[in-house]
Amino acid sequence: MAKHTITLIPGDGIGPEIVAATVRIIEASGIDVEWETQILGAHALEKLGTTLPEAATDSIKKNKVALKGPLTTPIGKGFTSVNVGLRKALDLYANVRPIRALPNIPCKYPDLDIVIVRENTEDLYAGLEHTVVPGVVESIKIITAKASTRISRYAFEFAKREGRRKVTAVHKANIMKLSDGLFLECFYNVAKEFPKIEADDKIIDNCCMQLVMNPQQFDVMVMENLYGDIVSDLCAGLIGGLGLAPGANIGEIGAVFEAVHGSAPDIAGQGVANPTALLMSGILMLRHIGERDAADRTEKAMLDVFAEGTTITKDLGGTAKTADFANAIIDKLKQ
Ligand code: NAI
Repeated sequence: MAKHTITLIPGDGIGPEIVAATVRIIEASGIDVEWETQILGAHALEKLGTTLPEAATDSIKKNKVALKGPLTTPIGKGFTSVNVGLRKALDLYANVRPIRALPNIPCKYPDLDIVIVRENTEDLYAGLEHTVVPGVVESIKIITAKASTRISRYAFEFAKREGRRKVTAVHKANIMKLSDGLFLECFYNVAKEFPKIEADDKIIDNCCMQLVMNPQQFDVMVMENLYGDIVSDLCAGLIGGLGLAPGANIGEIGAVFEAVHGSAPDIAGQGVANPTALLMSGILMLRHIGERDAADRTEKAMLDVFAEGTTITKDLGGTAKTADFANAIIDKLKQ
């Protein structure tokens, strides 16, 4: 069995709790893994004088894969987002967010199966802002043909690999004719290379309404950074909440797997956080490193625990603690 060295970033708030639970489950799946723990964000600033230490990025570059807990970003002031910094530093250009309902979890669309592919490196989300004169701020949206083409190609290749039927581009090209217009033009250029996969597009506002009313029409969806940030939270709401939405940040250099949700400071330290989203990110990671069998078994154990419906965390209406939920999955893995 191949040994894997994986960079582990416990993160802030509930991060260390859900990371510990996920690590225990992944280890119980039987893969041979060594974790290389690295710190980022406020902890790194305190200890190492920088929020994004080279030791962490070097570790990911070397191992090519990381499992990451959420990091807190101060609002309005303080240091800029380390999540955004990490994605930029490693050029993790594709943010892949599968949206799939779980058994027994009350939600609007139990049969939903959508994958959001979000461009991760540019757009308004790059946070290029400055004060022009006091009281006037300029925020710059940069869209390039290179990044738009690259993310569109990733979405179509993903659709082809995973046997999916359609890719939808989401945009506001009716208003932002140049920037979103360029994104859309690149999307349709790439679509020509994939004649067997249907390609269409939706304007973002209509798309949000359609997602709430008739989301089954969507399959793979590709969009710019800011739209992807918002739409993926909307989609998480359709399947039962943020505690259930996994994510992968993929680039040429490496891949970082993390939940869509943040550090949930309101429940940190109580041992009640739901580790499902991070665990599902871990399952994506297992598939990414070629451990398909361990991924399938872990996923089945998790789905079985949900199907039984007796060990459910507080956010989903249960009383189980983070560790109880992890133990229930580990018990299934050992059966
Ligand atoms: P959040 O996702 O941390 O929390 C939103 C709500 O969902 C809270 O009520 C929280 O208790 C609940 N929640 C989130 N994850 C949960 C889980 N696993 N189990 C149970 N309940 C859960 O969003 P918020 O409050 O806007 O952000 C908090 C911090 O997280 C901010 O500093 C933000 O910048 C950061 N953040 C980090 C991300 C990352 O590292 N990738 C992503 C999103 C936010």
